[in-house]
Amino acid sequence: MTETLLRGRTLTFLRWPETIDDHGAWRYEEDGALLMKEGRIIAAGSYAEVEAKAGETVKKIDHRPHLLLPGLIDAHVHFPQMQVIASYGAELLDWLNNYTFPEETKFLNTQHSRRIARLFLDEMIRHGTTTVAAYCSVHKESAEAFFAESHDRNMLNIAGKVMMDRNAPEGLRDTPQSSYDDSKALIAQWHGTGRQHYAITPRFAITSTPAQMEMAQALVTEFPDLHVQTHLSENHDEIAYSCELYPQARDYTDIYARYGLLGQRTLLGHSIHLSEREADVLSETGSVVVFCPTSNLFLGSGLFDYQRYRAREKPLRIAAATDVGGGTNYSMLRTMDEGYKVIALQGKKLNPFQSFWQMTQGNAQALSVTERVGTLEEGSEADIVVLDSRATSVMGLRMESINSLAEELFLLQTLGDDRAVREVYIAGKPAKSILGV
Ligand code: GUN
Ligand code: ZN
Repeated sequence: MTETLLRGRTLTFLRWPETIDDHGAWRYEEDGALLMKEGRIIAAGSYAEVEAKAGETVKKIDHRPHLLLPGLIDAHVHFPQMQVIASYGAELLDWLNNYTFPEETKFLNTQHSRRIARLFLDEMIRHGTTTVAAYCSVHKESAEAFFAESHDRNMLNIAGKVMMDRNAPEGLRDTPQSSYDDSKALIAQWHGTGRQHYAITPRFAITSTPAQMEMAQALVTEFPDLHVQTHLSENHDEIAYSCELYPQARDYTDIYARYGLLGQRTLLGHSIHLSEREADVLSETGSVVVFCPTSNLFLGSGLFDYQRYRAREKPLRIAAATDVGGGTNYSMLRTMDEGYKVIALQGKKLNPFQSFWQMTQGNAQALSVTERVGTLEEGSEADIVVLDSRATSVMGLRMESINSLAEELFLLQTLGDDRAVREVYIAGKPAKSILGV
């Protein structure tokens, strides 16, 4: 199998960067290279070092002066909401009832599911995102479509059919038994097929009866290695209604705890309005809270206190995500730009190294996939994004007065979007340029 050598400015993270001067937290090569073979990075370092390890038939691609980073990761997104994004004027529960649920009923149709899954994954690649944790609709057809398209692209993605059996319209409800049966069939067919991962996906407490929560718990017991994804503490009306529906629970988090749904592989979208008790439980169980800044702003849900969650005595594991279609952009760059502002509104900062750590290694850690993606280390699967800091005239002009990598990353985050993504490699193969868009 042929080798491919990418040349460019390589940046990868080794750990959370405490400060902007914490140089030990990342590895940056001004004239760097990555040697790829059979879908993996087999050498990384300076161009001179890596080139010396390449075979004679190596294919060389020169991406200078652009940056090569691990492919970006989006830890919470709804693929059936491509035609929901930009829906006006509602907070969470009305937004779900008026816009989202009617749209998701269309995903019973296999052709529609397949079309949207295709467009969705193309869009992710165009935006430099190589791995997502995705919600499908309640219909198994939607999950089949998503996994088929993801597998065709050889992407490492995590997804699940949503389990929801109440408080939703006809055509968007399953039953405890059918949600168990459909999830189990999808796990058998897709989990571990190529790079696909299945996530057990009870939508949230409001749309699952206790009987369905028991089925989710049964799945977790049977398949303890699988991810679990759901929503937690996004909006005050949602919190109040959830607690009303589960009166025996101490608080919203306790609903999921009672059904054994918390743990290292549990991803809890939003988690904005947590009490200290809830945050302690999430920390003790190693559960992950997912910061969705564009969505939290768009739906008026609230300000996620990223730095408090990180710095508390019992810290939380944090991921970041677009949450399209509550979220308003497919780009992780745009997402972290909004995230920066949310954190600034609370009198704190997220420095550019922390931000790029979050989109790459940080999200890989949160999704428990660091052994495979999220870095440019040797042995990693070769999911890579090529970023152009001069992609637009506005960016090019600003770049004229930029003197450091930190400033450049901050510019990319603040002004960048899909136009800054020059190429994407998935398991070592170019993926953006072949889209033809
Ligand atoms: N809570 C339950 N379902 C959803 C959803 O689709 N989007 C958001 N933002 N919150 C939810
Ligand atoms: Zn969501």
